[in-house]
Amino acid sequence: MTEPIARPGAKPARPYFSSGPCAKPPGWAPERLATGSLGRSHRSKIGKARLEHAIALTREILGVPDTHRIGIVPGSDTGAVEMALWSLLGARKATMVAWESFGEGWVTDVVKQLKIDADVVTAPYGELPDLAALDQSTDIVFTWNGTTSGVRVPDGGWIKDDREGLTIADATSAVFATDLPWDKLDVVTFSWQKVMGGEGAHGMLILGPRAIERLETYAPAWPLPKIFRMTKGGKLIEGIFKGETINTPSMLAVEDYIFALEWAKSLGGLDTLIARSQANAAALDAIVQAADWLDHLAADPASRSTTSVCLKFADAAVEGLDEEAQLALVKKIAALLESEGAAFDIAGYRDAPPGLRVWCGATVETADIEALGPWLDWAWAQARSS
Ligand SMILES: Cc1ncc(COP(=O)(O)O)c(C=O)c1O
Repeated sequence: MTEPIARPGAKPARPYFSSGPCAKPPGWAPERLATGSLGRSHRSKIGKARLEHAIALTREILGVPDTHRIGIVPGSDTGAVEMALWSLLGARKATMVAWESFGEGWVTDVVKQLKIDADVVTAPYGELPDLAALDQSTDIVFTWNGTTSGVRVPDGGWIKDDREGLTIADATSAVFATDLPWDKLDVVTFSWQKVMGGEGAHGMLILGPRAIERLETYAPAWPLPKIFRMTKGGKLIEGIFKGETINTPSMLAVEDYIFALEWAKSLGGLDTLIARSQANAAALDAIVQAADWLDHLAADPASRSTTSVCLKFADAAVEGLDEEAQLALVKKIAALLESEGAAFDIAGYRDAPPGLRVWCGATVETADIEALGPWLDWAWAQARSS
């Protein structure tokens, strides 16, 4: 039993700590979005220009080289990943790397649905597999930042320049928070509602020259629905990467994404976004270090996420409880904080070990992470005393 403690005074000004959709950029308001493209055809001059602007700003902020195409595709990050897997895999053996729920989902897709010859390399929640040992003559599919375990790839040093296979990275909670090594990544995917606090709807698919070459020289044995098709007559459909989307996008979501990109640019671009995320993660780490009941799920600080930070219980009495009892405690803490308006959506992911998850991406203010600390201790004490 833990004694209750006094309710803290100040609350986070913006208690939005969900790991997706994530907090809107500070200062966001619906009336600040440009609306000239709404109610118009996405293929009109203005519609096309806004889609192209979103692509150009993405390229500028992320520093994506001219060698890489950037496309806006349907189905959020999942849509972009599926498009890549179904279009590119099967030409050679694959290696599927998974250390949490989303990576496991891609394993299922490739092994059970596409039935591709694949090595499956996994690590338990909180750990990273040995990336240097992966067979780079195969196509390697991995998640850059495991959103549900808080374990991320620390860098691309393990990816060989003379690899034979493709590297396909689901980087949805890593982009805009990490300096990605574009020359080592043949495919990168993400969606707008993570680090940029945009809206869920569309995926971003970034293809390097080696992926484009594969698309133009290899046709999978299975049929591809229109929504996945990126080539015509063996040539890349270049329009997809110039704002001519395969089907109708939400222009409202596009405008919202542009708002976030312009906010990021006004702050100083990628370096500032990365610094904000790192400052948030450091502030949260200070809270974790000071709390005797909390610890990181990611064991190694080198591969600890600076966006989706996952925490577990470190209290001996709680660690001894079964998973159901621990989950009940998580629920209680999350519900208390939500009802107080101190923190929204910080229960860990449903497939992950019981714990809390606090988003530290760039749209979160460090002062709000700092203000969260006393509330976590308060909610823990409340939950344990009841
Ligand atoms: C690593 C990872 N991959 C895929 C997804 C699914 O993304 P979406 O809902 O944008 O399709 C998520 C969502 O949280 C994620 O974190």
